[in-house]
Amino acid sequence: MTNVLVLGANGQLARNTTRVFLGTTDARLTLYLRRSSRLTNPDPERVRIVEGDVLDPRTLEAAMRGQDVVYANLAGRMKEQAQGIVEAMHATGLRRLVFISSMGIHGEVPGERYRTVLDPYRDSAAVIEASDLDYTILRPGWFTHDEEVSYQLTQKGEPFRGHDVSLNALSGLVVKLALTPGLESRHSLGVSRG
Ligand SMILES: NC(=O)c1ccc[n+]([C@@H]2O[C@H](COP(=O)([O-])OP(=O)(O)OC[C@H]3O[C@@H](n4cnc5c(N)ncnc54)[C@H](OP(=O)(O)O)[C@@H]3O)[C@@H](O)[C@H]2O)c1
Repeated sequence: MTNVLVLGANGQLARNTTRVFLGTTDARLTLYLRRSSRLTNPDPERVRIVEGDVLDPRTLEAAMRGQDVVYANLAGRMKEQAQGIVEAMHATGLRRLVFISSMGIHGEVPGERYRTVLDPYRDSAAVIEASDLDYTILRPGWFTHDEEVSYQLTQKGEPFRGHDVSLNALSGLVVKLALTPGLESRHSLGVSRG
């Protein structure tokens, strides 16, 4: 049984992915978020809720103990968050990280130039890629709310294909990455509708 730490657990994609983890796997989840009263525990037998800020190293390290996988679904000060995650993973001996970023951070979307708005995504990805962790960075297109579960992947250095991807497809991919050792290790993947 895999133990997964979900950082930013009240995020839109994180909530959808929690539902997919619980519905399709036997993974145990630790949901880590600020102001935890916003979240109701969906399955007390398998889910623990921890109130914490990712920028608080002590709480973060405590939450990492006993985990197998970290799934970071964050926004805001992402470079500092990435630095804190890498340090806390080193301190606790964790290796596997699935980190949600955004399409466009490498200028890989044909015809689009997202500049400073993506700096936190670009900078946090650089921090993770410079680490020795077993990471997978996802660079998804715009999220949609349909039932579609298919997706296509592009590796770093390849042009991004398409422009959107469903939350359900992304959640399925996060779950697969979290539960399949070695899958797309140390890769940064563009993710769009299949
Ligand atoms: N929507 C799209 O189409 C799209 C496309 C590509 C990429 N993305 C990116 O993919 C990521 C995930 O998307 P999403 O829709 O799930 O984002 P979201 O709903 O904005 O969730 C991000 C979460 O990060 C949490 N967070 C921020 N700083 C934190 C901190 N210091 N400590 C703990 N938690 C913190 C926020 O918590 P609080 O609730 O406490 O603020 C929020 O719940 C985002 O970065 C988003 O920009 C989105």
